[in-house]
Amino acid sequence: MNAESPAEGLLPDNPAAPRAIEAHHLTYNDYLMVPELLQLQRPQSDPPHHDEMLFIIIHQAYELWFKLILHELTRAKAFVDRDQPLRARHFIDRVVAIMRLLVDQIHIVETMQPIDFLWFRDRLMPASGFQSLQFREVEFFCGIKDGRYCTFFDNRPEMREQLQDRLDGDDLRAAAWRMLQRGGFAVPDAALDPERRDEPETFDAMTLALVPILEAPDEHMQESMLLESLIAFDEQLALWREHHVRVVARVIGWRMGTGGSSGVDYLKSTTTKSAFPELWAARTRLVRSDTSGGLSLRRAEEAGSPSGAKPERCPVDHGSGVGSGNGNGNG
Ligand code: HEM
Repeated sequence: MNAESPAEGLLPDNPAAPRAIEAHHLTYNDYLMVPELLQLQRPQSDPPHHDEMLFIIIHQAYELWFKLILHELTRAKAFVDRDQPLRARHFIDRVVAIMRLLVDQIHIVETMQPIDFLWFRDRLMPASGFQSLQFREVEFFCGIKDGRYCTFFDNRPEMREQLQDRLDGDDLRAAAWRMLQRGGFAVPDAALDPERRDEPETFDAMTLALVPILEAPDEHMQESMLLESLIAFDEQLALWREHHVRVVARVIGWRMGTGGSSGVDYLKSTTTKSAFPELWAARTRLVRSDTSGGLSLRRAEEAGSPSGAKPERCPVDHGSGVGSGNGNGNG
């Protein structure tokens, strides 16, 4: 063999070559259970349609990432509960990185021609994304709670119970608001109650409570950094919904979903859901003052403004767009 060969390092007489693997050694395949994993793709079409493998694997990959997202969010919430926003942020940022991948990943199914999908789509009925327990758990755990989705698990009592626990359990949104209340911000008690936090009066007070943090991030650095990570997560979740609906329209047009929904129109209606709508709405309420420390902000006097140090006021409208407190359908 040529001395330059890339396989040179693998030859047994090379001292740097890997040691022989003995029966009792932990191997890559044992540790990751690769043989078992590769047995889990079972096409329904007969004979198997070539593209069904893609359809199965992409969904399985999503479910694995959903598992990790739940794992990381649980950790993040534990740090929020312990008033350690920067530690919490570390794990939220990991989730944001995963979500970015998931937004991109949905487009792989577009390499499937619509007509090819039709070859095996009927075989999947009534399986549907509605039955992704982990997706719904992510929503509920963040605070996007809607008990109507539990009915999609009626045939799997253990799954239904798991989702019900998420519905009844504590969530990240409530945890973040408790932390802010403990931190001395003007948080109304109703903000901590999932049944009341989206009532207009409460929601309004919540957005106002965020204003001091958003107007002076340097003074509330830890809270500010956590809130930025939470809105980044919310943004990625919304982007996933938008990309998914676009991909669905491209692959099946306006056909009904296999889960019985109207399909694209239903999915479009979900794109206004938000885990932290108050974070979006609060932005509209910010008032710039010459002492608020923005990097590009020159003091009004220096700029020769006739208005002196008066703040610049923005109109308040938190009822539109992604940040709408009413767009969640929570309850
Ligand atoms: C050809 C590709 C796809 C099509 C045509 C499609 C279609 C649909 C449709 C029509 C729905 C509405 C529910 C229903 O009536 O069934 C739905 C929901 C859903 N899909 Fe997909 N989907 C595709 C790929 C994916 C992938 C790769 C994932 C990754 C996990 C996914 C996850 C979901 C989830 C979680 C929902 C529930 C969304 C919600 O209720 O907010 N879908 N999908």
